[in-house]
Amino acid sequence: MASLSFTQIKTGNSASRLALARRSTISTRPSRVGFKVFASETQAEPDLSITVNGLQMPNPFVIGSGPPGTNYTVMKRAFDEGWGAVIAKTVSLDADKVINVTPRYARLRVGSNGSPKGEIIGWENIELISDRPLETMLKEFKQLKDEYPDRILIASIMEEYNKAAWQELIDRVEQTGVDAIEINFSCPHGMPERKMGAAVGQDCALLEEVCGWINAKATVPVWAKMTPNITDISQPARVALSSGCEGVSAINTIMSVMGINLNTLRPEPCVEGYSTPGGYSAKAVHPIALGKVMTIAKMMKSEFDGGDYSLSGIGGVETGNDAAEFILLGANTVQVCTGVMMHGYGLVKKLCAELKDFMKKHNFKSIEDFRGASLPYFTTHTDLVRRQQEAIRQRKAIKKGLQSDKDWTGDGFVRESESMVSN
Ligand SMILES: Cc1cc2nc3c(=O)[nH]c(=O)nc-3n(C[C@H](O)[C@H](O)[C@H](O)COP(=O)(O)O)c2cc1C
Repeated sequence: MASLSFTQIKTGNSASRLALARRSTISTRPSRVGFKVFASETQAEPDLSITVNGLQMPNPFVIGSGPPGTNYTVMKRAFDEGWGAVIAKTVSLDADKVINVTPRYARLRVGSNGSPKGEIIGWENIELISDRPLETMLKEFKQLKDEYPDRILIASIMEEYNKAAWQELIDRVEQTGVDAIEINFSCPHGMPERKMGAAVGQDCALLEEVCGWINAKATVPVWAKMTPNITDISQPARVALSSGCEGVSAINTIMSVMGINLNTLRPEPCVEGYSTPGGYSAKAVHPIALGKVMTIAKMMKSEFDGGDYSLSGIGGVETGNDAAEFILLGANTVQVCTGVMMHGYGLVKKLCAELKDFMKKHNFKSIEDFRGASLPYFTTHTDLVRRQQEAIRQRKAIKKGLQSDKDWTGDGFVRESESMVSN
């Protein structure tokens, strides 16, 4: 990753010092396309524009692969509303093999099981990749690039375990003029039955082989989209980067069972009385996504620092603050899928405004000013114990808070327990 190096934040007004330190970082790994433009330091308004793997975007907000990138009409809408980039719905060579069912969505709302009201906090889908003919999708990619040559269009692709098929697909999508390719190594339902999607992303040996085929062919940047349905997500991320991919995206949906209808006793979403585990997304997955992105970012910082590698954070983003969290962990871009399905394409304006508010509050002028700034504050539990014991020792020295159990009055349990100097 280009510049996950940072100065330690200490206390107080450290933001501007950090901002200055980050602005001086430069990338060293040659990118496959484009050239880099750095943010102006004199602008009063925070600058949301980014350059990632040589791709210039007006802001870090990217439409995540899924229904919001289904066809020309909706992708055009996304560009018109101001999204930084669009990743189209995943395509494969033979759409005839992709057969969807209905219903394919189920929602988790705040409230009791089956509650029809309440805010949606979780979303499960059993939707497959695009079932539209590849030729149609390719024609639409080309039309979009002809009409929006300066905007970033990324094709999402997936194929069976077959080198010739992968390379044909790459060749055909590249001919449309797309700017980059995201590889869907992560769809958790349907496709693994054909040794596709998560079946590859969960098997590092297979992943290495397939990434080798892909990177031998691709001439545009390649992002590998990771599945969270694995014990240690840093392992496939490492394999993807060391096999030539320019970036990783995380996360795709989390394998889930949305619930059981307590009237019919059948699982949801219910198709002819039956269901199958699906992929979970939206607000409920955000903390899990942050955890996975943090794990990948730590690995990238220690093993790939100094190269022009990128990280795209995905999962439950609905506000500028959600996005800021991914960037603070080291993400270059932030993808939104379910949030767009729920709130529409205009969401990007709110995301940009809220991210700017966050940046103004901390006096950050550019995304690079704070990217990765929170990453050094993750450590082991053993280290937390050591740090706390040291803090306790220091507090004891200045005799702050309760000295021991016998001083405990029981008035204000939280305050008293937090002020304990020994345990
Ligand atoms: C209905 C639906 C369809 C999706 N289809 C795809 C897909 O075709 N390819 C893909 O890589 N990810 C797909 N995803 C996963 C999203 O791109 C994203 O990784 C995930 O939903 C988490 O982000 P979110 O909470 O912003 O939706 C889909 C998600 C949903 C909800």
